[in-house]
Amino acid sequence: MKIDDKDMRPIWLNDDKTTVQVIDQRVLPHKFIIADLKTVDHVITAIKEMFVRGAPLLGVTGAYGVYIAAINASDKTIPDDYLIKECNRLKASRPTAVNLAWAVDKVLAAVLKEKSPSGKIDTAGIQAAKIDAQEVENCRNIGEHGVSLIEKISREKNGSTVNILTHCNAGWLACVEYGTATAPMYAAFEKDIDIHVWVDETRPLNQGARLTAWELGRQGIKHTVITDNAGGHIMQHGMVDIVIVGTDRTTGTGDVANKIGTYLKALAAKDNNIPFYVALPSSTFDWTLKDGIKEIPIEQRNPDEVRFVQGLDDNKLRKVMITPENSPAADFAFDVTPARLVTGFITERGICRATPNNIKELFPEKF
Ligand code: MRU
Repeated sequence: MKIDDKDMRPIWLNDDKTTVQVIDQRVLPHKFIIADLKTVDHVITAIKEMFVRGAPLLGVTGAYGVYIAAINASDKTIPDDYLIKECNRLKASRPTAVNLAWAVDKVLAAVLKEKSPSGKIDTAGIQAAKIDAQEVENCRNIGEHGVSLIEKISREKNGSTVNILTHCNAGWLACVEYGTATAPMYAAFEKDIDIHVWVDETRPLNQGARLTAWELGRQGIKHTVITDNAGGHIMQHGMVDIVIVGTDRTTGTGDVANKIGTYLKALAAKDNNIPFYVALPSSTFDWTLKDGIKEIPIEQRNPDEVRFVQGLDDNKLRKVMITPENSPAADFAFDVTPARLVTGFITERGICRATPNNIKELFPEKF
């Protein structure tokens, strides 16, 4: 994605290979700050505090985190038990998006096969870069497959605007490039299909209002930010043709964990006969789980995220309290949409219905 004519990604390894650099997403769109991650503690803070967020990006960050652990080992032999401990700390930093543990474990498994310290460092770097590149390719393919859904609606509407609703940010900021839910939108835009995106603000941290709106705006895609509760109303009034969201963890049976509020959008979509699609790379499937509601760990974050909102005031970023000072609040970060409410999945291998059999047709090796 171009930022001020410069190709940018939300994460990269700097030229001297000692620092991972990330766009600090906490302050977008009002400030553009790049943060340096030089230690495993820096990486963990960036994940917990959400400098970086979104399932695929959490995976890529975790993967580079293993590399950072390897280059920072105080015992220059880089003992296996040290690496395993650091990887466990990385994996524990956010619980819901399965990509994080998946990517950390993948890099760790390759590194543990190496005996020499230089072999361990090189392997960690190579594996992290590989996961990074693979996620970019996955998202590109999600775009190629998903655009067919938008094309079909556009044809049915004789070329008039296709209205897409999305929740949270499943864009390039969440994924390195293209995004998952946004990839079909960017592909449609490239093909000159007339689209308009309803962007849920996505309280409490407003990833829709802050990040998705920023991304789409920079790309020149028509969009409108709406309150989280507006979706049902605009669906009832024929103003939404398709819902496309991302996910943090999806079971092999088709249950989808995504940003809090996704479930309510799926219910409203079902009630209004609107297709509800989930775009995801295979790294977001958790093949070990069967029942998403019972088994997917749902992160609970600091209630202050609910009690305060952040915004720009007099060119300064400020947080203001919106609740009575002593009112308790609760911050459930994700919810689970059962497979029965999901029309289909858009994956790097194609589109399928949200049933184990249909998922299995695309990913037979996982069953
Ligand atoms: O808490 P966040 O911002 O990490 O939550 C992100 C989401 O819920 C995204 O929709 C999901 O990770 C998919 S990203 C392609």
